[in-house]
Amino acid sequence: MKHTSPVSRSGRFALGPAADVAQFTASVQFDWRLWRHDILGSKAHATMLEKAGLLTHPELSAILAGLDQITKEIEAGKFRWKSELEDVHMNIEAELTRRVPAGAKLHTGRSRNDQVALDMRLWLRDETVPLLKEISQLQLALVEFGDKDLDVIIPGYTHLQRAQPVYLAHHLLAYVEMLERDRQRLQQSLGRLNVCPLGSGALAGSTLPLDREMVARLLGFVNAQGEPQVTQNSMDAVSDRDFAVEFCANAALLMVHLSRLAEDLVLWAGSEFGFIRIADSYTTGSSLMPQKRNPDVAELVRGKSGRVVGNLVAMLTLLKGLPMTYNRDLQEDKERLFDSVDTVRAAVRLSAAMVQHTEANRERCLAAAEDPGLLATDLADYLVRKGIPFRKAHHLVGALVAQAERLGKPLNQLSLSEMRTVDKCFGPDALEVFDVKRALSERNLTGAPGPEAVRAQLARWRELLA
Ligand code: ARG
Repeated sequence: MKHTSPVSRSGRFALGPAADVAQFTASVQFDWRLWRHDILGSKAHATMLEKAGLLTHPELSAILAGLDQITKEIEAGKFRWKSELEDVHMNIEAELTRRVPAGAKLHTGRSRNDQVALDMRLWLRDETVPLLKEISQLQLALVEFGDKDLDVIIPGYTHLQRAQPVYLAHHLLAYVEMLERDRQRLQQSLGRLNVCPLGSGALAGSTLPLDREMVARLLGFVNAQGEPQVTQNSMDAVSDRDFAVEFCANAALLMVHLSRLAEDLVLWAGSEFGFIRIADSYTTGSSLMPQKRNPDVAELVRGKSGRVVGNLVAMLTLLKGLPMTYNRDLQEDKERLFDSVDTVRAAVRLSAAMVQHTEANRERCLAAAEDPGLLATDLADYLVRKGIPFRKAHHLVGALVAQAERLGKPLNQLSLSEMRTVDKCFGPDALEVFDVKRALSERNLTGAPGPEAVRAQLARWRELLA
């Protein structure tokens, strides 16, 4: 059997792990991404150790300088990651100790169990904050699209059947609402994420006089009042991955919303709908069919939602049944989390750019919105205003639709006498219902697609997103 060097092992072991075990258990090929936060955490920990009298001042200075040197090398791509050193934590600490003897004191009162929990919280915080902004930018892109085509009316759909008319802006604002809830969920999760686990040790804290609050302060783990936030149970702190699950859940729902938006855009960009044109730079051609302009960006946003949903399921499955406290299984959390973060951030950014490069096709929208069937409900409301019970009005308009179909005419082309053969309650003013602009102008309840309501919503969002 081939053995690796025992370099990363304690005195307990005479030999390194078998070569295939080292390969199987190593994580540095993906967790190197945590390096910046690992160093940040180590600097804060060392600073605290000095204050606690566990490092001398020269030792601290040497450690900080060594970590700065390593930072520069990693940034320049010159740092050699070694898989036999397992993970990002051991790689950095071993290299530091090779250069700076005091590096051997850095792990005082610390375990990789609280260290990795710390690194992931720091890393995820730094990814979540810009994501909040990116969501706002997508919301703004949707608001601007709606604003630009303020007078464009399209059919609203249920069951993908034409239902009732709405302003295009109203349809787009529906996504702005969904995205706002997604943004708020991420923001609220930040409060639970921003708690410092360092000082929890392997699972049972430390016998050394560590100052957990000081480390928390140094790393920005403070609440709105500036008070340090530290985890309150060492066993929970090293085995808890709620923060990663929460992010994956928030990301999955956000991706599902983006996927639905993408699906609408794909449909609208197709010749059957023809409501929009996505700019060339956000579509691709076909290698075979010269006429094609394919909405690949939207399709991939829709497609990638699958893996983000999958990451959430993988994460929950990983945690289910784990005994307290840390178990190596937890190492499997990283690639799922990284993938959800990368995918969702790219999808939000690309969706915003695509929306910014999309235009409404006014003629096609108008033609679809003039379908008189969209106002059949308004005709029922017309009868309700004449005192007819809604159920009966619904039935009468249904009979009228059938009559129009029999005569091969659009609903709004029936003559008064043709209408009155269905029921005498249809008066000469019935046809006035079939004015789509007027029909919309009567929908100004809060949340409705009337022109004033929509304008007010656009203004509200512009203010909120400014
Ligand atoms: N690479 C490990 C992980 O991601 C770091 C913690 C290792 N702890 C341990 N006791 N082996 O979970």
